[in-house]
Amino acid sequence: MTENFRLHAFVCTNQRDPKKPRECCASKNALDVMTRLKRAAKAAGINDIRVNKAGCLDRCEQGISCVVYPNGIWYTIPDDDKAIARIVEHLAGGKAADEFLMVE
Ligand code: FES
Repeated sequence: MTENFRLHAFVCTNQRDPKKPRECCASKNALDVMTRLKRAAKAAGINDIRVNKAGCLDRCEQGISCVVYPNGIWYTIPDDDKAIARIVEHLAGGKAADEFLMVE
């Protein structure tokens, strides 16, 4: 049976050739951060959301890039468990973690 999820958090884990001029989220530990976000949400008992790996979201310089739909809220996720916990509060239904909103 297909579930309807309340929200999706897509975290860019794109890895780019280091010789390319543009930076990438993988070089900022994005895969590990995405995994910790996913585990923290699960540990908090949030079952009606999905945290997914994503390819490049074209905000490479502001990464680790994360976008939360359906509201289209963009985060720069630090490699920091306190920051991850704050974003989990948002995913649980709280207000957005303003301190980690992506700066354009
Ligand atoms: S590499 Fe992550 S947004 Fe482009």
